[in-house]
Amino acid sequence: MAQTFSADSHDTAALSQRIEKRWALLMVSIIGLLVAVMIFTGLHWAMMPPSRVETIDPSTLHLSGEFVESNLGSAVEADGSVTVRVIGQQYSFTPQCLVVPAKTPIRFRVTSADVIHGMLITGTNINSMVEPGYISTFKTEFKQAGDHLMPCHEYCGAGHEAMWANVKVVDKDAFSKMAVNTRRLTCDL
Ligand code: CUA
Repeated sequence: MAQTFSADSHDTAALSQRIEKRWALLMVSIIGLLVAVMIFTGLHWAMMPPSRVETIDPSTLHLSGEFVESNLGSAVEADGSVTVRVIGQQYSFTPQCLVVPAKTPIRFRVTSADVIHGMLITGTNINSMVEPGYISTFKTEFKQAGDHLMPCHEYCGAGHEAMWANVKVVDKDAFSKMAVNTRRLTCDL
């Protein structure tokens, strides 16, 4: 009787080990499949994690450095591309009106002076978080002239729904003329 019991428990142990091995194999296969999907989509769509993180002290934005008020707006670079610097704060963007040329490589650099905001430009796929302490950067190009709205899309407090800016895309030539006399362009009144 005792022997039978011992044989039974041996069988049970072997069985549970087999089942455990099967489950472990299934889990490893699922992880392997997910990693394979990540590698495939990464290569297929040339997607990459952000290559670098730029940080900035939100409490001194207005005092010195890249985001002082006189440096905000659109700047023409030596290679003809345009860099647009914007600050978001409760409850507005500075500048309130951005002016950029069409058919020109444009790089946005945006940060927040207080809490997390968001920005999207209507009619385009531009959509980014705007976080205090970090500089959000992305490149884009507007195909044609036109007016767009740029609302904040992260709930940032009581005045959230009133937080938005205008984006005016103008012809390249018109922009060049405007840029002759001005180091930083905006269409703020
Ligand atoms: Cu800023 Cu919502």
